[in-house]
Amino acid sequence: MSATTTYPNYSPGLEGVIGGITTISEIISETSTLVYRGYNVHDLASQGSFEETAYLLLFGKLPNRAELDSFKKTLADEREVPEQVYTALKQLPKDCHPMDIAKVGYAVYAPFDPDYAAPATDHEANRRKAVRILAKGSTIVGNGHRIRNGQEPLKPKAEHTIAQNFLYLMSGEEPNTQTAHVLDSSLTLYAEHGFNASTFACRVTVATLSDLYSGIVSGIGTLKGPLHGGANEEAMKMLEEIGTPANAEAWIRDALTNKKKIMGFGHREYKKRDPRAIYLTKVAKELSAEKGQTKWSEIADILENVMETEKGIYPNVDFPAAYAYYVLGIPVDLYTPIFVIARVSGWSAHALEQLANNRLIRPGCIYEGPHSAEFIPVDQRP
Ligand code: CMC
Repeated sequence: MSATTTYPNYSPGLEGVIGGITTISEIISETSTLVYRGYNVHDLASQGSFEETAYLLLFGKLPNRAELDSFKKTLADEREVPEQVYTALKQLPKDCHPMDIAKVGYAVYAPFDPDYAAPATDHEANRRKAVRILAKGSTIVGNGHRIRNGQEPLKPKAEHTIAQNFLYLMSGEEPNTQTAHVLDSSLTLYAEHGFNASTFACRVTVATLSDLYSGIVSGIGTLKGPLHGGANEEAMKMLEEIGTPANAEAWIRDALTNKKKIMGFGHREYKKRDPRAIYLTKVAKELSAEKGQTKWSEIADILENVMETEKGIYPNVDFPAAYAYYVLGIPVDLYTPIFVIARVSGWSAHALEQLANNRLIRPGCIYEGPHSAEFIPVDQRP
């Protein structure tokens, strides 16, 4: 848009534009509340498991005991990926970002899905695909990490949860209970968030009647950016650059003076606090204190205070996630792929919802280019 022009019905970044109707999640900015299908995300994170949340998103209700046990068994049965996926991941350069590994992993697996040939709008086939997509995420990311480090993939264990499977494959060791619990809560908080950029990208893709895996790959590509899911990695790099609590105030004031974007702060939808950040900040601080690694949370406190007083901007979920994952010993470049492991549940739920009442998503645009340009044959052009 030219600097001086404004157009009716045009909102840069689609801010305030309603892109659809959903029953999956609701963001209530005024009260800093996020609900998935009516349930407060704080209740789901504190009292439920990520598997229960994923079931809620995909099947529309919380599972009873028998449904949950059967869902977990299916997830365990579907957790492994075919050897061809590992063969493909082994061809990638070793400095390949794990988000690209996730993208390639799902893209290569797609034609192996037993429902590959089902019509794009087959709801039951899509839900079976969604469960496979959910089951395989932690394996693709965990074993993708091993392959990138020159290690062989491990066979996932049936008794593990999704969080435990990721930690086991990442480290090769039996996961610690507390670590798995913190990671599990963060997966619940990351699972779903309305018409965010990656979910919208996924809906746009499936709305063309392409396939669910293409929607997932669109979602991963969109999530990777630092303004979206990539912010958790950038937030940790920022904390590492600051280094000590003594440097924090001068660093943040200088960054603001130089109009830098502070990663892990701000949100299009929340004008007050991000409820996911409220929950995860508490968890991250308790964890840091327990582990005797309070340096990052002390830096975080200083950044939060300055951002609130100077800009009225609060941390989003990616900020506490960054230092919680760091304290848990997770390599920084796996933070956004962890977001993928969780968000495939939200993306799939949205894809199913989109296809149940589909219309091609195709906004208009305003043309500001030249008119009536005279065509000059190539050899006569200056
Ligand atoms: N640091 C400094 N200033 C900020 C920040 C920030 N993190 N976020 C917003 N602002 C300022 C911005 O400079 C602008 O000020 P002004 O009007 O004076 O130019 C104003 O607030 C509005 O910002 P915006 O970028 O136009 O807002 P937006 O709604 O387009 O962007 C956002 C939202 C999340 C992209 C943005 O807040 C941001 O870039 N944050 C840092 C990246 C980040 O943490 N992203 C993760 C989002 S939550 C997890 C997820 O869903 O991925």
